[in-house]
Amino acid sequence: MNPEDGNGLSLASRTERVSRSPIREMFDLAHEYRDQDLVHMEIGEPDFDTPDHIIDAAVEATQNGATHYTSSTGISELRNAIADDLDYEYDPDSEIIVTAGAVEALALACITVADPSDEVIVPTPAWPNYQIQGIMTDANVVNVPLCEEEGFALDTELLVDQMSDETAAILLTSPSNPTGQILDPSATAEIVEAAAEHDAYVIADEVYKDIVYDQQFQSVASNTAHPEHVITVGSCSKTYSMTGWRVGWFAANERVADAALEFHESIVTCAPAPSQQAAVEALTGDQEPIQSMLSAFDDRREYVVNRVEDLPGISCPEPDGAFYAFLDCSELGVESTTIARELLEEHGVVVVPGVGFGDTLDEYIRISFANSLDRLELGFDRIEEYVELNGSV
Ligand SMILES: Cc1ncc(COP(=O)(O)O)c(C=O)c1O
Repeated sequence: MNPEDGNGLSLASRTERVSRSPIREMFDLAHEYRDQDLVHMEIGEPDFDTPDHIIDAAVEATQNGATHYTSSTGISELRNAIADDLDYEYDPDSEIIVTAGAVEALALACITVADPSDEVIVPTPAWPNYQIQGIMTDANVVNVPLCEEEGFALDTELLVDQMSDETAAILLTSPSNPTGQILDPSATAEIVEAAAEHDAYVIADEVYKDIVYDQQFQSVASNTAHPEHVITVGSCSKTYSMTGWRVGWFAANERVADAALEFHESIVTCAPAPSQQAAVEALTGDQEPIQSMLSAFDDRREYVVNRVEDLPGISCPEPDGAFYAFLDCSELGVESTTIARELLEEHGVVVVPGVGFGDTLDEYIRISFANSLDRLELGFDRIEEYVELNGSV
């Protein structure tokens, strides 16, 4: 415990290691301007409502009694549906746990495999929550910046060199938040190989696996000789526009899944029963609404890439998946938190500062294209105005 501070309350010392994400700070700042016509390009969730057939299935199931605890691993129909959805063959009875969103599955993965002071390696840019998930277990989170000039491609040599017997896990996200990059399968296979040599795990965050455009997605677990060293994390949140339902999954070798289940039971008992019913319908029901959402994201991606190309001095790697673009704003010569604050306060656009995705990324901003084409057009007009006023080129 920490010694008491000024107000007489002591907290666990790990709370000292958790710092406020610049992303949350932006959200709070944007809230102060909520009465203005802000263009929200910071949001990390689909702007579509959950398709009707999914909501109807949940309502019907709830009226028919899906209001109780379920088995802590989740209802068997859902575990079977998840197993069918994954491209590596996990046993739905012993290797899949339904979780309260991917975020719970990621926390379970860290708690299950990392001891205090073990290393959890995070190649950056990366989703900021991984830092806190590592800290929850008192692990050392080691951020490994990937090369900007290489478009943040996985540098296997760099990452394998970083691994040691202290390494408990390495987090890989594909498609990536914030770049949208799909990881090269041969690179992920090499990383799993090295993880296996160190008796470590690859935690494969694949929440965006269905939001992919021109390329094929191949899961990390399906592309290695050591699938027992991979923990696959996914969810219904992004694919089915179901962020509020809180349904995700943790899929791993039986021994790992059994251990994770102990923690899961003491954190949430089980994922919400009505949401599990909704997820069965999402995974097994009509996929047409999902295709329509995907095609809307693809149109917006094309629009965003074109608008970024026209911004003087600004560039971004073309996203292969997800609904983000990570804009290199180094030509502006100011910190990402300043860019984000000025865009909000002076131009009414909300974006996320790059520094939230890694300390070395203070010249980037992340924009989300989970917004209508009309709003994106207005947002980009405003960003263009800002760049023209502040750019040196
Ligand atoms: C990379 C990544 N992983 C996990 C999550 C969490 O997803 P869920 O809503 O399923 O908890 C997010 C949400 O933004 C994300 O971007």
